[in-house]
Amino acid sequence: MRYEGRFYYRGELVEACIEIGEDGKIERIKKSMDGCEKIDGVLLPGGIDIHVHFREPGYEYKEDFYTGTLSAAFGGITFVVDMPNNNPPIDSVELWEEKKSTVGKKANVDFALFLMLKSYNGDVRVNAPFKWYMYEENIEKKNVPKGVFITVHAELKDCISSSSYLRGYDFARPEACERKAIKKLGEYGRKFHIAHISSVDSVDLCKIFGFTCEVTPHHLFLHRDMELGAFGKVNPPLRARWQAEKLWDSLINGRIDIVASDHAPHTIEEKEQDFESAPPGIPEVETYLPIFMRLVKENRIGLRRAVEVLMEKPAQLLGVKKGKIEMGYDADLIALKFSDVKRIRARDLHYKCGWSPYEEFYGIFPHSVILRGEKVIEKGEIIAERTGKFIPVPRGEES
Ligand code: NCD
Ligand code: ZN
Repeated sequence: MRYEGRFYYRGELVEACIEIGEDGKIERIKKSMDGCEKIDGVLLPGGIDIHVHFREPGYEYKEDFYTGTLSAAFGGITFVVDMPNNNPPIDSVELWEEKKSTVGKKANVDFALFLMLKSYNGDVRVNAPFKWYMYEENIEKKNVPKGVFITVHAELKDCISSSSYLRGYDFARPEACERKAIKKLGEYGRKFHIAHISSVDSVDLCKIFGFTCEVTPHHLFLHRDMELGAFGKVNPPLRARWQAEKLWDSLINGRIDIVASDHAPHTIEEKEQDFESAPPGIPEVETYLPIFMRLVKENRIGLRRAVEVLMEKPAQLLGVKKGKIEMGYDADLIALKFSDVKRIRARDLHYKCGWSPYEEFYGIFPHSVILRGEKVIEKGEIIAERTGKFIPVPRGEES
């Protein structure tokens, strides 16, 4: 299979033809070859989202692996890593294998699966990263596994309270609580990846301890003083507008490593309860890459930095051969036209929950999506379903 067009290759856009092998990997990249199918627009590597909650098993009424990965594909994301806070929580090899086989039959993009880190399962050997919820589990240093990627939800139980309104929620789970958790991690003398960082002081702490970190689209694009009510309730909370602006600066200047969505859908009924009862979480997986592409068009972020934080670096952190248009990498590609700016509407998205806080935003959605060489979306329509496959996340040295 050969595709030609305007590719993002080693930091710039070049006219080229790429050849893809039977195994779905890029085999050759040349100025021109015979028999290349022309793809319109600009071709970028597919987006990599290392933090999604697709709710299966246990909460399929909010989202399931089919709808979650379909939304991902339409939003230009070709690889996701799904969180383990399912029902039952995925904390053993058996549950992890079972989840892998069930969701694997429904996946529209490639995926990996987190294992939930508990004090009793650090010795589990699977090709998966771990997720540690610090507010749920206190884990001693000896029980923290080595040689494996660990994403940490850095908030501690003892500094969390509740609130009855959105602005108050920021103060109920303050930035200081996140800092306290990161400082505690610093005492472990290990490498961690900090999820959904919510303040620039936390970013500084990550730098001091040598941790990597991710920021969510909602901590960049939304803030606590918006009229969102419980639809803006999320952990850690939305902060002040100036904080969101500073996080954006940190992302641009390289202090924040990557963007990950923390796509955490809940139903409209659940979110319409009183603020205190409403569950935390915001759906995002379909809208954030398109919003970033619109910001690229407006020169708010360079294409090179956008590709780094949305594609290259997240894949690199996990050690998977994706996120780059390069020989030996999976041929996961998205094609878009920078002139295709579109107003985001929840009814056009593919989430089961049916809402989005980004209705007022504009985005540039891909018109075509290619997964390991095969077209899955063409002219905005899904043409190949359930072709996503499980991707093992390699483990490193144990020392
Ligand atoms: C997460 C969810 O809904 O699964 N919600 C969130 O606000 N990030 C759970 C959690 O991380 O607390
Ligand atoms: Zn999460």
